[in-house]
Amino acid sequence: MRIDRLSTGQALTQNGCGMQMATASPLAGAWIDAYDGHHPIVDVGCAYGLAVKEAAARSVPVLAIDCCEEHLEAVRHTCAGLPSFEGARFGRLPDDLSLPAASASSILVAEVLHFLNGPQCDRALAALHATLVPGGLLFVTAQSVEGFLKVVFPDGNAEARRVRDGVAKRAAAGERWPGTYVMESEDVDLEQIYSGVLRESVGAHLPPEALRAATPKYEVVHTAQHLRAGAERAGLIVVSAVETSHPGYPDGADVVQLVARRPL
Ligand SMILES: C[S@@+](CC[C@H](N)C(=O)[O-])C[C@H]1O[C@@H](n2cnc3c(N)ncnc32)[C@H](O)[C@@H]1O
Repeated sequence: MRIDRLSTGQALTQNGCGMQMATASPLAGAWIDAYDGHHPIVDVGCAYGLAVKEAAARSVPVLAIDCCEEHLEAVRHTCAGLPSFEGARFGRLPDDLSLPAASASSILVAEVLHFLNGPQCDRALAALHATLVPGGLLFVTAQSVEGFLKVVFPDGNAEARRVRDGVAKRAAAGERWPGTYVMESEDVDLEQIYSGVLRESVGAHLPPEALRAATPKYEVVHTAQHLRAGAERAGLIVVSAVETSHPGYPDGADVVQLVARRPL
């Protein structure tokens, strides 16, 4: 299998899901620390296993989940021989996570929720809640509205304003996931973003077809406020929901970071 990398370290996915970031989620350290000593920690949407490897290197029992068999094969190869690696298994949010209820002490979902629509995000959070042991912790990072706009319209121009206003209007109308605006707006063309913006900058050395193959077909962007509300609807206790930068994005873009706990 060929893994194409940007010059800034991100690795293109095999299944039209953008890229594995250059560094693990800023929440990866806390995700590993949340191991309860009994139940494994789980990385959902592990791609090539960047965060899984960090956990296994610290001898924490870790299970890798992804919806792409090629990614899982790569993780098995990378983590073979690491004693606390508990395997790489197929699973797909929201309805096919294929993990027993109350089986994980800590779950990481990094840069995955933006491939789900609003109702799927609600079901995903409910499924993650059910998979955690009581008291277990969920760590989510996902692309934010402002982070997305910074990449797509770096000059903060009129199109960026239109997208921002579109999201704000949907939020004001009470939509649960107003970032779905991005997929329904004619102001955003994901193919153009990946094949244009990325190729001209950090992906200049890559064949255009590799970037095109990794281009997501769907991308919802999030706000801390709406991700917090989604987690609370799923019955989780939100520990924190903030927007900060992710150094592993090509431009260190802002992401929403959510930490939430399953009640005891
Ligand atoms: C953008 S990559 C992020 C990879 C990694 N978590 C990181 O932080 O760099 C998204 C990953 O999530 C996986 N994925 C996408 N949709 C998924 C779903 N519905 N359920 C499980 N995994 C999914 C993709 O196959 C891909 O490996």
